[in-house]
Amino acid sequence: MSNWTRRDLLKSGIAASAVAAEQGSAASQTQQNPAQSPATGPAGGGGRERLLLDFGWRFHLGNANDSAQDFTFGTGGGTFSKSGNSVPPARANFDDSSWRKLDLPHDWAIELPFENDRSLVAHGSHPLGRTYPATSIGWYRRVFDLPASDLGRRISLEFDGVYRNAMVTFNGHYLGANFSGYSPFRFDVTDQANYGSPNVLLVRVDATLGDGWFYEGAGIYRHVWLTKTNPVHVPQWGTFVRSTVRPNGPAAVRISTEVENETDGARNCRVISRLVDPAGKAVATVAATPISIPAWSRREFQQTVDVASPSLWSVEQPHLYRLETTVESAGAAVDSYVTPFGIRSVRFDVNNGFFLNEKPVKLKGTCNHQDHAGVGAALPDRIQAYRVERLQEMGSNAIRTSHNPPTPELVDACDRLGMMMMCETRMMDSTPEALSQLERMVRCHRNHPSIVIWSIGNEEPEQGNERGARIEATMKRTVKALDDSRMVTQAMNNGWGGKGATNVLDVQGFNYNENRIDQLHKDYPALPIVGTETGSTVSTRGIYANDREKGYVRAYDLERPAWAALAEVWWKFYDARPFLAGGFVWTGFDYRGEPTPYGWPCINSHFGIMDMCGFPKDNFFYYQAWWGSKPVLHLFPHWNWAGKEGQEIEVWVHSNLERVELFLNGQSQGAQDVARDTHLVWKVKYAAGAIEARGSKGGRQVLTAKRETTGPAAKVQLRSDRGRIDGNAEDVAMITATVVDAQGREVPIADNELTFQVAGSGKLLGLGNGDPSSHELDTAPSRKAFNGLCMAIVQASKVAGEIRVEATSPGLEPGAVTVTVAPAPLRPAVA
Ligand code: GAL
Repeated sequence: MSNWTRRDLLKSGIAASAVAAEQGSAASQTQQNPAQSPATGPAGGGGRERLLLDFGWRFHLGNANDSAQDFTFGTGGGTFSKSGNSVPPARANFDDSSWRKLDLPHDWAIELPFENDRSLVAHGSHPLGRTYPATSIGWYRRVFDLPASDLGRRISLEFDGVYRNAMVTFNGHYLGANFSGYSPFRFDVTDQANYGSPNVLLVRVDATLGDGWFYEGAGIYRHVWLTKTNPVHVPQWGTFVRSTVRPNGPAAVRISTEVENETDGARNCRVISRLVDPAGKAVATVAATPISIPAWSRREFQQTVDVASPSLWSVEQPHLYRLETTVESAGAAVDSYVTPFGIRSVRFDVNNGFFLNEKPVKLKGTCNHQDHAGVGAALPDRIQAYRVERLQEMGSNAIRTSHNPPTPELVDACDRLGMMMMCETRMMDSTPEALSQLERMVRCHRNHPSIVIWSIGNEEPEQGNERGARIEATMKRTVKALDDSRMVTQAMNNGWGGKGATNVLDVQGFNYNENRIDQLHKDYPALPIVGTETGSTVSTRGIYANDREKGYVRAYDLERPAWAALAEVWWKFYDARPFLAGGFVWTGFDYRGEPTPYGWPCINSHFGIMDMCGFPKDNFFYYQAWWGSKPVLHLFPHWNWAGKEGQEIEVWVHSNLERVELFLNGQSQGAQDVARDTHLVWKVKYAAGAIEARGSKGGRQVLTAKRETTGPAAKVQLRSDRGRIDGNAEDVAMITATVVDAQGREVPIADNELTFQVAGSGKLLGLGNGDPSSHELDTAPSRKAFNGLCMAIVQASKVAGEIRVEATSPGLEPGAVTVTVAPAPLRPAVA
């Protein structure tokens, strides 16, 4: 307790109670005055280490049908017959020098060519599956030392997510398999480890089958960690912090802490919890009464702390606190564990929708899958934040992780940036596998303030029947046992009312079907409702006429699948009904697979309000106008229509101003008033030159927007989303390449092929252009611009300096940009 004095405790005005209870028993609760409690500082002691295990892997494809090409897996009895003697690559003497060197996260699916095969269309047209045995299995191998001094500590391997069906061996011992492509899993390897000599970690990943019906990736696409602790420690996800916010009083923070004793004798332990506020100041420290934890067992400590004048977590001010847990055994600190959390209240009200901190907030959400241009499902952490920032720029305040538990770093980004989340499990069932996936999701993420509700399924065939209701009741009970602070919903597309999920769920989820909402609200006046999947306009960025052959859909808000509403239709409906908590558009970003309304040559969806790269389509500005708070005036289409002279072009404006006047080459085309939640349209006979919109409010011109007929493509311009990134071998810069004319105006129809060269302290990670029918590989160094734009993702090395990115194209002046790579601490990692 180096920097924490009795005076600080008194000053903080905290009323605290500390309770130590045997798991499941409230009988032994005792009060303790924090002012008398010794406590420890943040370091806490105990020497817990959590090391990133992302770097220095070797990778090789295997084969699902041919054991010889699958490192003898499945033949000769060698796979499982004797402990410590699994397949050859699991052994120390295996020569992996011909395997490819790579760092995680990694998704091998995007490295495979596209195949015109109907069975692959929904999944992104990469050759994975029973008919592609040579590209559906991946082997990952990592050799690392553990020092002799680690003997006596508990050693575990933690995987945040592997797609999918991962078989893991360690020093030739089969550790186990993980079925799900999304659930985190962990193995204790204390017994199997070599101390003072090399260890071989081998993972066979089988992406033959799908967990879902969309693009899911292939490989170890999330982080891997090596964790070392004292035998007496907080187990993985062993803390749970939740708070009760009182209107004018202090917030009550309830802390549950599990402590595990993995020794042969009972250990007298206590937990000291220190709360640190968003400014870094300790605001409370409470010590629990010691209890004896028997050998090889786990106990839970309960503590309650009042925090006076808490800084609440909100969308506008996402204040984050930290819980610093110290475990003491026999008077010595043996473990320390940090849990970020937020203080906030959420509730769903049947008449008034959703409340955050007792203020009504409409959920302005998007559903999203997890893949992005250039990297597939293997997103560096920074891209998670990049995507959240783009959505916020649009005025969105919520994400639904459809249809799977998210990568932890996405949840972290939402916490940090003030984005709410509906967190969804993959498998709707009460089988051991499905409940295990659900439990892991809730335990892993329950401390995150951004998560405001859990979803236990999506469009399940059993959603409306009694068997479904039994299953859902078990799932809900499972959630509530782990987290009594949040409500449970399910994304349903049928079966409301009746005997199914309606009777079980706290909040009714609606996928589409707006026409049935008012009736349900009338029939079930006690049931809050949220739109789990709402509008679903399909559109291609920069395209204004449908083209079935190329697979492009016009980007006006006019095209939708039969089951979904247009942006303007769903939002008007939800905006007009205060009882609706809000809704989640399908989707924020395009994703690989599901190329509705077409099939091949399309390989990715058109549902996104943004394309695969995060470049906005025109509907982005519809949402920005009606979700956001700043004045918006967006004019489209572009004005490069050579050959269409004299023909009528539909000109649209998305604006939240009061009145907009349109001009063609200086001539007024008329002014129109803007009605809430709608757009404006003019029909204009095309003539080269410029269209201009002038938007006014209160009779005063506030904004103008112009689209000019450009000259031919003349040069490439590069722009980085950030001028300075961290030299930690993880951070990335998102580089936008724009093809411009001689006057520097974006050429909105340019499709020049760009080649990227990256020099200095970084490397090219991947490319994208948002073209839903592009068959260029994201991992190639060249890419055509699509409607004027292309994106390059560049990753910093560990060396501070500069990354110089250059894009060349025949006949164009090249573009260049320099990104500073700042010296930055590396995350503690396995050497
Ligand atoms: C929904 C489904 C989504 C996606 C979407 C496409 O019914 O829940 O996962 O497939 O349709 O329109």
